[in-house]
Amino acid sequence: MIDTNPSDEPIIRFTHASRRYETGRGTVTALDDVSVAIARGQWVAIVGPSGSGKSSMMNLIAGIDRTSSGEVRVNGRALGTLSEERLARWRRDGVGIVFQFFQLMPTLTALENVVLPMELRGFRTGKRSRALELLDRVGVADLAGSLPSQLSGGEQQRVAIARALANDPAILLADEPTGNLDSATGERIIDLLAELADGARTLIIVTHDERLAARAPRVIALADGAVVRDTDAYSVGADVPAREEPSVGAARLIGN
Ligand SMILES: Nc1ncnc2c1ncn2[C@@H]1O[C@H](COP(=O)(O)OP(=O)(O)OP(=O)(O)O)[C@@H](O)[C@H]1O
Ligand SMILES: [Mg+2]
Repeated sequence: MIDTNPSDEPIIRFTHASRRYETGRGTVTALDDVSVAIARGQWVAIVGPSGSGKSSMMNLIAGIDRTSSGEVRVNGRALGTLSEERLARWRRDGVGIVFQFFQLMPTLTALENVVLPMELRGFRTGKRSRALELLDRVGVADLAGSLPSQLSGGEQQRVAIARALANDPAILLADEPTGNLDSATGERIIDLLAELADGARTLIIVTHDERLAARAPRVIALADGAVVRDTDAYSVGADVPAREEPSVGAARLIGN
């Protein structure tokens, strides 16, 4: 596990972080000199047009990817300096991830899908009861024995959220969590995420959904890999614009 640092330290800090890809067509800059800090317990929406670098940013926080230059620190630790083994431990224990297409294991029941991360982490006892509690928290305890194929999209996303919470991660990342849901179902998932933003857990949500972005107290907008707006910049230098009314900002900030 990454050590806990003093609580005044932002839980996430990007410092001049860039991610470039070498492709057949030359260098693609997915993230271009991003400097942002996110406080422990903050709820942040990341918005911006397709290709603006949102998933790249998430992948760096999740330790799925590393910067080409600059630094991403989580809990005061530069992820780029961690060995593969420690990075894998960070992915397993430090973050919970919710995807647009749920990505549940199709042959496992809802309950087993939530138990799985606890098994990978080596929990000996209490896995099933904790999984049931989590399914109850997201409102689908009665579907514990169902396979993903027997569940609606919204139900699958609830199970995926329960799974992301299984290891009690400090950071919950969601990449377009309502992107594949009808509007009413999406609304209920947004309510659920809002409930989870209780100030203890840091919640970072990539979204094209204006209703979802409007609920987040802070919205970071990306364009061409750079931060172009930040409604509540937290303790980073002068390159970040001043605070403004979040919901008004959020509605305007959606790129497409
Ligand atoms: N593995 C890769 N190889 C080459 N280029 C990549 C790779 N991954 C991402 N990119 C490029 O980096 C840029 C940012 O991609 P990213 O996936 O972060 O965008 P995004 O904002 O999440 O887009 P979307 O809303 O479509 O999911 C894009 O131009 C993309 O084509
Ligand atoms: Mg993406």
